Parts: sequence; structure tokens; C-alpha cells
Amino acid sequence: MSNMISCKNLTKTYGNTNFYALNQVSMEIEEGELLVIVGASGSGKSTLLNLLGGIDKCTSGNIYFKNHDITTYNEKQLTNYRKNNIGFIYQSFNLIKELTVQENITLIATKHSNVNNILKKVGLEGKNNSYPQNLSGGEQQRVSIARALSKNFDILFCDEPIGSLDTEMSKQILLLLEELCRKDHKTVVIVTHNKDISKMADRVYTMKNGKIIHEQINKEPLSVKEIEW
Ligand SMILES: Nc1ncnc2c1ncn2[C@@H]1O[C@H](COP(=O)(O)OP(=O)(O)O)[C@@H](O)[C@H]1O
Ligand SMILES: [Mg+2]
Repeated sequence: MSNMISCKNLTKTYGNTNFYALNQVSMEIEEGELLVIVGASGSGKSTLLNLLGGIDKCTSGNIYFKNHDITTYNEKQLTNYRKNNIGFIYQSFNLIKELTVQENITLIATKHSNVNNILKKVGLEGKNNSYPQNLSGGEQQRVSIARALSKNFDILFCDEPIGSLDTEMSKQILLLLEELCRKDHKTVVIVTHNKDISKMADRVYTMKNGKIIHEQINKEPLSVKEIEW
């Protein structure tokens, strides 16, 4: 397998503090793998994902996407990186409240896929014209998933993608993510605080206090269908 993204000594402090949200993190993501990142709340998972996805900038360190250092990119290059290479499911959904479900999706869609099909996949059939504020948290989360799936990407970052979903819906979404990796051969990274989910991963990183403290390789990852919870 070849390297999709890697980072070296990645560090992030917010504002002028001495607090390291990320502290000298080095890691890599292989092309086509399903990587799970676990860790307690506040351990730096979202910070790491935002930096790797080009959404936020590091304080120091390097991030390589297919051997190009994205920390040297200007704004335009970064925008293109996000647009052409990255899919992102945000922990806080990031839906535009003035736009309908359909408009939120088509705003960034790059695939010629049918919005109705994508909405059906995430269990939101017929919600095209609803506005985010009229949807439950779980429904908003699924809109943000539908939006991510409607664009082309090399790697999909999923920040707590099932945090607001019940068990049944969680399984449905995880099956979609599993299929993306196992059938469409996309690289998928799932951040979660649910350790059971790590059983579906090829590899698991554990984070604590802004550092990766453990790496586990699953030689035989389970299918979502085989995971009990
Ligand atoms: N925008 C921000 N401003 C200041 N501190 C932040 C900001 N975002 C995150 N942090 C802090 O950085 C640490 C890591 O946060 P985060 O990456 O969100 O962790 P996780 O996703 O693992 O819960 C936490 O202590 C958090 O309070
Ligand atoms: Mg987080």
C-alpha cells in the first residue's frame, strides 16, 4: 500500500497559549485503508483531522499529501486541496442554515449523483426542501454525511460521524462508510470515542493529551454487521 497522507511533528496551539492541542504528532494514512482514531474528549482528534483536511493550519510541523507538503500551500492551493481531494464529515455538521437540505448538498456536490439517491442512502428520503433548523440533530448529521458523499474525494475524514445517531442508524451509516472503503477503495478515517467501532478498522490510533500513544493493526477487521454493541 502506498502512503496517502502523513504528518511529521505536527503541533497546534490555539491562540497565544502554552497549551498543546496537538503535540509533535507523526503518523501516516495508507491509501485504501480504514483507519479509526479513538481517544477521550479533548485528546486532539478533531484538531488532527482539521489540520490533515486543510481546514485549519498547524503551528508547526509538516503534512504530506501524496508527498506534497500542504503546509507550504497558499490559500488557493489549499482550497483546491479541500475541493479535489478531501471529503469531510464535521463533528458540528456545518450546515448552512439559510439553505435547504438539497441546496446544502448541491452547493458542494461534484459527482453527477442524484441527490434523491444519496438522501435515500442516509435515510432522509423526501427531506430535500427542509431547512436544517427543522431537523433533529441526527437528521442534520445525516445531511452532513450526504453532503460529503456527494462529492469526489480521495480520502474521507469522518469526525464522530454517528455521535448523534441511534444504534440502528449508526449501523446503517457505518455500513455506508465500510462500503466506501471495501468496495470503492476509498481511504476512510473515522474519529470516534466508541471503542467498538475500532473493530472494523485496518488500523487504530489512540490519542491522549494531544499525542498518539498507541497504534494497533487489525489483521482481520470485522464487518460492521459482525460488531455487537
Ligand atoms: N478553537 C479552539 N480554541 C481553543 N482551544 C481549542 C479549540 N479547539 C480545540 N481546543 C482545545 O484543544 C484540545 C483538543 O480539542 P479537540 O481537538 O476538539 O479534541 P477532541 O476532538 O479529541 O475532543 C481541547 O483541550 C480543546 O479544548
Ligand atoms: Mg472532536
